[in-house]
Amino acid sequence: MSTILVVDDERGIRALCSDVLGRAGHEVEAVDSAAGAVAAVSRRRFDLVLCDINLPDQDGVSILPKLLTGDPPPAVLLITAYPSIDTAVRGMKLGARDYIGKPFSPDELRLVVQRALAEDELRRAHGELTKRLAYGSMIGDSPAMQQLRATIGKVAQSDATVLITGESGTGKELVARALHFAGRRASGTFVPVNCGALVGTLLDSELFGHVRGAFTGADTSKRGLFVAAESGTLFLDEIGELPIDLQPKLLRALQEGEVKPVGGTSAIRVDARVIAATNRSLEAGIKTASFREDLFYRLAVITIEVPPLRARPGDIAQLARHFAEQAALRAERSRLELTDAALAHLAAQPWPGNVRELENTLERAVILASGDVLDVADVAGPRSVTASPTLTTFTGDQVPTLDELERAHILRVLQLCDNQKTKAAQMLGINRTTLWKKLRQYGLEPE
Ligand SMILES: Nc1ncnc2c1ncn2[C@@H]1O[C@H](COP(=O)(O)OP(=O)(O)OP(=O)(O)O)[C@@H](O)[C@H]1O
Ligand SMILES: [Mg+2]
Repeated sequence: MSTILVVDDERGIRALCSDVLGRAGHEVEAVDSAAGAVAAVSRRRFDLVLCDINLPDQDGVSILPKLLTGDPPPAVLLITAYPSIDTAVRGMKLGARDYIGKPFSPDELRLVVQRALAEDELRRAHGELTKRLAYGSMIGDSPAMQQLRATIGKVAQSDATVLITGESGTGKELVARALHFAGRRASGTFVPVNCGALVGTLLDSELFGHVRGAFTGADTSKRGLFVAAESGTLFLDEIGELPIDLQPKLLRALQEGEVKPVGGTSAIRVDARVIAATNRSLEAGIKTASFREDLFYRLAVITIEVPPLRARPGDIAQLARHFAEQAALRAERSRLELTDAALAHLAAQPWPGNVRELENTLERAVILASGDVLDVADVAGPRSVTASPTLTTFTGDQVPTLDELERAHILRVLQLCDNQKTKAAQMLGINRTTLWKKLRQYGLEPE
């Protein structure tokens, strides 16, 4: 059932609408003037307004702005006699949804009304869904998070390139997704690409595509991720790892809005919004000449800094409860409440691995917990054992080689940061690609 306002000075039309729409199950109110209509919408909210254009006091189109108020505003259908179709079209440009010509049959009336209401229903469902995708997964009501949400809301509406900075595990990817799903490109694709995971040529072809025969093994042509993100968002994660020789190409793509596939001769126009993220300081990269300054400025049109978890301890309890609940669902266990002492303990930790570390801590706690609550011992457990980094010790007659030392140290650091390669690489002061190489070299990589 919807609430409908009928505005017409002809008694016959008011009676017809009230009768037909009333019988269709709607709640109908009818008024006979523009002033009456404005008064009615200021009094209560309507889902739909059927408004005659020729009213005795004012014409229906000129009161449109006053009818289109409220959140969400009603769908307005104009009622028009043949000679004023032009006015009806003007009305639609001003926000009316549709119009219906006089005289109309009950069937016609039911149809336009139903169509407008169904459209609104869809719109609402879609709006809620995209909102949920955008913000629903982001937990935390600290002032810092509130500010972050407000920024996302504003920035999502534009197409400007965004650089998201913040320590590892703070939620940069979550922010990127929120920007995509809260904006105009929500119906397009969100295409994430990790710039640190692929080496030079592969990344080149991955991003920009290649033509057939561009290199050995290129049996077919391939469209790149820039093209795949058409009318959507391309998320360049770990942008600091982008090889220096690819940087001019990316800069060109951003500046000209076109890309040239590997081995190709002509450029392809692309329309993808670019969002980049980094947990390393790009400014430092500029100093060591591993990151181009011009690209940095082009990417950082808008910068969003995601604060570390220790800067918003107020979020920890809420996040911890959420992760405990999720972990319990995954482990098919019943819900485990966190004790106040456990929450206090969690809130006091420094969380160098930020939200991801908290998430892992609760996952482990839920899996290992034996009681039906999570107490300090459950959430503090293994962390305190591994959290004391000491150098590998050796005795005089057992001098390890540098390789052995390196291998042991890498293992240690991996343990310290819960096997998260990005974090480990950061702690080791090397990039991820280098870490992968070393893991393979020392046989530490399972695959
Ligand atoms: N505010 C939040 N609410 C709920 N979950 C969060 C929040 N922030 C982060 N997370 C979760 O924490 C984990 C890490 O987040 P994300 O991958 O976005 O971090 P990141 O900043 O991209 O880290 P990295 O630099 O290591 O790639 C994810 O599982 C994410 O869902
Ligand atoms: Mg990330």
